[in-house]
Amino acid sequence: MIQIAPSILSADFSRLGEQVRLVEDAGAEVLHIDVMDGHFVPNLTYGPVLVKSLRSHSSMRFDVHLMVEKPELFIADFAAAGADHITFHLEATYHVHRVIQQIKEQGMTAGIALNPATPLDGIKYILQDLDMVLLMTVNPGFGGQKFIPNVIPKIQVLHRHLQQTGSTCQIEIDGGINLETAPVVVNAGAHILVAGSAVFTHPDPKQAVQELRQAAHSVKSE
Ligand code: DX5
Ligand code: ZN
Repeated sequence: MIQIAPSILSADFSRLGEQVRLVEDAGAEVLHIDVMDGHFVPNLTYGPVLVKSLRSHSSMRFDVHLMVEKPELFIADFAAAGADHITFHLEATYHVHRVIQQIKEQGMTAGIALNPATPLDGIKYILQDLDMVLLMTVNPGFGGQKFIPNVIPKIQVLHRHLQQTGSTCQIEIDGGINLETAPVVVNAGAHILVAGSAVFTHPDPKQAVQELRQAAHSVKSE
């Protein structure tokens, strides 16, 4: 079962509550929340205070994608705000194993994100501790960028490895997902598809989620 995770990065913030409700009504299971610090990526977004205010308005899983240096400094605050899951970047901390433990100690599930050029090797010895691996298919920092197809073999290799080891770790794909690329990444082994601009710049975000799900499932049932 492929999950669609709308990213609020491309939402209209003047009516965020309403937009979140639309995608939840469309059956989205996961809400993707992109946190940027202006250091790890050249952009700034929002923090725990936003998670806290959305929490009482949604029962979707809150999937926080930390694009920040030293993610260890923010884990407890996001847990207290109501996050269900935290993904941090392998490239953003020296103490990867410790951060995973911190996330789990706070009762959340843990994921690691890899930039498009980062090989899978760096997660080899901690894969068994992860609930999710997020493979970036754009350079992190902005919505609405073009999908980088070079990442497709990385998805395939990770998928094969997880199957061979009987792992339940999920593969999330983030960046440039639309009706054309969704089937491609599902075919390569993706389980969760993040979609920002494809959902929130669509005239009908609810319909956009449903169309993406259909496109994703058309592959799985083949
Ligand atoms: C980019 C973010 C993405 C972003 C994706 O750094 O991690 O989650 O919202 O946006 P689209 O789907 O427009 O590529
Ligand atoms: Zn993201």
